[in-house]
Amino acid sequence: MPKYRLLENVEIGPAVAEGNCIARIDNQVVFVKFAAPGDIGDVQIVAKKRNYLEGRIVKFHHHSEKRITPFCSHFQTCGGCKWQHLGYEDQLAFKQQQVVDAFERIAGLSGFEVLPILGSAQTTAYRNKLDLTFSNRAWVTHFDPETTIRPTALGFHIPGRFDKVIDIDKCHLMPDYVNEIQRGVKAFCDTHGYTYYDLLDQQGMMRNLMLRCNKKGEWMVLVSFFEDDAEKRHALLDYIRDHFERVTSLVYVINTKKNDTLQDLTVQCYHGNEYLMEELGGLQFKIRPQSFFQTNSMQAETLYAITKAFAGLSGKELVYDLYTGTGSIALYVADKARQVVGIEYVPEAILDAKENMKINGMEHLSFYAGDMKEILTTAFINEHGRPDVLITDPPRDGMHPDVVKRILETEPPRIVYVSCNPATQARDAKLLDEKYRLVKIQPVDMFPHTHHVENVGLWELR
Ligand SMILES: C[S@@+](CC[C@H](N)C(=O)[O-])C[C@H]1O[C@@H](n2cnc3c(N)ncnc32)[C@H](O)[C@@H]1O
Repeated sequence: MPKYRLLENVEIGPAVAEGNCIARIDNQVVFVKFAAPGDIGDVQIVAKKRNYLEGRIVKFHHHSEKRITPFCSHFQTCGGCKWQHLGYEDQLAFKQQQVVDAFERIAGLSGFEVLPILGSAQTTAYRNKLDLTFSNRAWVTHFDPETTIRPTALGFHIPGRFDKVIDIDKCHLMPDYVNEIQRGVKAFCDTHGYTYYDLLDQQGMMRNLMLRCNKKGEWMVLVSFFEDDAEKRHALLDYIRDHFERVTSLVYVINTKKNDTLQDLTVQCYHGNEYLMEELGGLQFKIRPQSFFQTNSMQAETLYAITKAFAGLSGKELVYDLYTGTGSIALYVADKARQVVGIEYVPEAILDAKENMKINGMEHLSFYAGDMKEILTTAFINEHGRPDVLITDPPRDGMHPDVVKRILETEPPRIVYVSCNPATQARDAKLLDEKYRLVKIQPVDMFPHTHHVENVGLWELR
């Protein structure tokens, strides 16, 4: 018996943040998952929050004209690609509106130019990286009462269930070779009796599988083991090396920590190189297992090209690239700048940035590691100079208020702000408005079939 009400004949409204559609009933807001604007159906409420309800359509009376047939057999169970039931043009329109709404409603801004969103040329197989999890607690949609064997999984965590993993047969996010590797690895592990990680009991051998590829079609496979068994480890790695010739980087870690992060682990190279090389805009980037790299390489070039164009460089400028990661934007704009200064939290990323600078034969960039609000001080700016152009690409939380305050004090004539979260970008825009005029924004879709949207904005000092 459901805990909450069933709402009948609900007409579904527009797609909003987090990929949900919105409906209004009796002055209450309901966020409906996996719905399409224009659907009419009975909505089962599944959660009550302070200011809104959450629901799911359990019976359709009318299907929206915007609906299309989802392409993935894991749709609605797996946490990714939640918008597959909407045509790509509609997805783009919703993303564009989401960005405009954020700037108008959260930042209270108007009079800026909105450039039409740039869609991704590839809408499937667009990612260059996937992280899969092994689990002895598979998410089962059909329970077989005859079996006593607990099913295992190699796939993705179920939304809202940190302990359950859905076994993925075919994922459409990377080139199909990803499925050949992951199916092969799982079959090998099952046939040879390898144990899968149990998150709750903290035992089992097989923990994670990370797969990366570059535009040339070379692959990195990283196997993460929880329990170590040298003989079994060698046998599995030999199998991958001998059966998947496109794997040019076969690496592994032994991870006995509570979390899956690689940053504090020693990665061992078993075969080939311990890195992949990728080319973006004529530049070479070395990508190590732990490195951050934009996951849609083709669209990253679009994003960086817009960032560079908005920066309006002539070759004479001092550019700051805040939240530089492995220095990709810094390097991308460097041929049109006098000097570039990159700042980033993760020290290993800064090592990659310095190495990428050398690989590309550049010398006029400098990189600094540390927390932005601690590094970007008045003393730092006095030492390195006031930037002519400041580029910033913070994480989803946006910039710390102290960082925005320092930018306002420094008064760079131009700011180019790249964001993966329009809500926090709009919040920061409201603060920048004290001294800056928002000239234009350019939404970019890096992640088709998800609600995520990237946005580049240009601000000029008033
Ligand atoms: C969205 S990524 C941008 C990376 C880079 N611009 C690129 O395109 O590859 C945000 C970066 O901010 C870094 N970061 C997060 N919090 C930070 C902080 N407080 N101070 C400095 N860097 C931080 C992250 O490590 C990450 O590399």
